[in-house]
Amino acid sequence: MRVAAPATPRSADVPAGPILRVERLSVRFGTQDVLQDISIDLDPGETLVVLGESGCGKTVLLKSMIGLIRPTSGDVQFEGRSLASLSERALAHLRTRYGFVFQGAALFDSLSIFDNVAFPLREHTHIPAAEVRSIVESLVDEVGLPRSVLPKKPVQLSGGMRKRAGLARALALDPHLVLYDEPTTGLDPIMSDVINELILRVRGRPNVTSVVVTHDMNTARKVADRVIMLYPLFRLRVGESQVVFDGTAEELDHCQDPRIRQFVEGRAGARLMELREEQARAEAASGSGASDDHEPDDPEAGK
Ligand SMILES: Nc1ncnc2c1ncn2[C@@H]1O[C@H](COP(=O)(O)OP(=O)(O)OP(=O)(O)O)[C@@H](O)[C@H]1O
Ligand SMILES: [Mg+2]
Repeated sequence: MRVAAPATPRSADVPAGPILRVERLSVRFGTQDVLQDISIDLDPGETLVVLGESGCGKTVLLKSMIGLIRPTSGDVQFEGRSLASLSERALAHLRTRYGFVFQGAALFDSLSIFDNVAFPLREHTHIPAAEVRSIVESLVDEVGLPRSVLPKKPVQLSGGMRKRAGLARALALDPHLVLYDEPTTGLDPIMSDVINELILRVRGRPNVTSVVVTHDMNTARKVADRVIMLYPLFRLRVGESQVVFDGTAEELDHCQDPRIRQFVEGRAGARLMELREEQARAEAASGSGASDDHEPDDPEAGK
């Protein structure tokens, strides 16, 4: 197996114990509390799926796990080191140990697929150009893309191809921890399953731990060793934990908690009414009248 990352081997410098420890993590933006008192230990080799409805804080949790968002309180430790204690430089170096597959792929639009996938190698290693080429080619092979995509720009690829290119880039430095944000969103069921298969394949690499944020129950059932479900803070009653489920996908299917059943079965319940009430409250707070504040694409506007 190729060795691309500048890091020393895990066994030499990594203490036994969880690869990632999220300890009493809370995140607030302005007056909005998004995450409250979240604690998660992730064992090496484990695949954790994080479920939860839109806006509950899944992406914020994922970004907090790699120091892209600093906690308001609490701590995140990666391989035994607290991210809060690290300088920006040390944090940047530590990030070479993670691969992040962003929601929407987040490729550099102006770069070719080759340059996108090669980017982390050129940025963080001194690997010679010929070897970079051979690593990039093996990565695109691994994610099932033809090499003919390499000179193309992201805009020339389908959504599924872009997601796979994003995965190839995330794997470039042989990361110990791979984080996926909504890897199947916007893809057809077959392409979604291709991505699920790729997540399984990556999971089979030595020493790889994965965190997969998704709405997709098929992904959860297929790839998870463990599933947690987050709940939007503002819906919780006093004293309730924001992590409303922590167990296996099979246990999730049998869990009778109505909050979990509603998500698993995809029922709107009272959400439509609540969303209307929220919008009305927001309009009242901003002082705008409903009559002159229609969205331009609202088919009811002006009727
Ligand atoms: N950088 C930021 N600054 C201010 N607010 C933010 C920021 N990032 C996220 N938020 C807010 O935090 C809340 C949770 O956002 P987040 O993106 O984590 O949701 P999510 O669970 O990933 O939703 P989705 O499933 O739609 O991707 C949202 O209300 C969002 O507006
Ligand atoms: Mg998100």
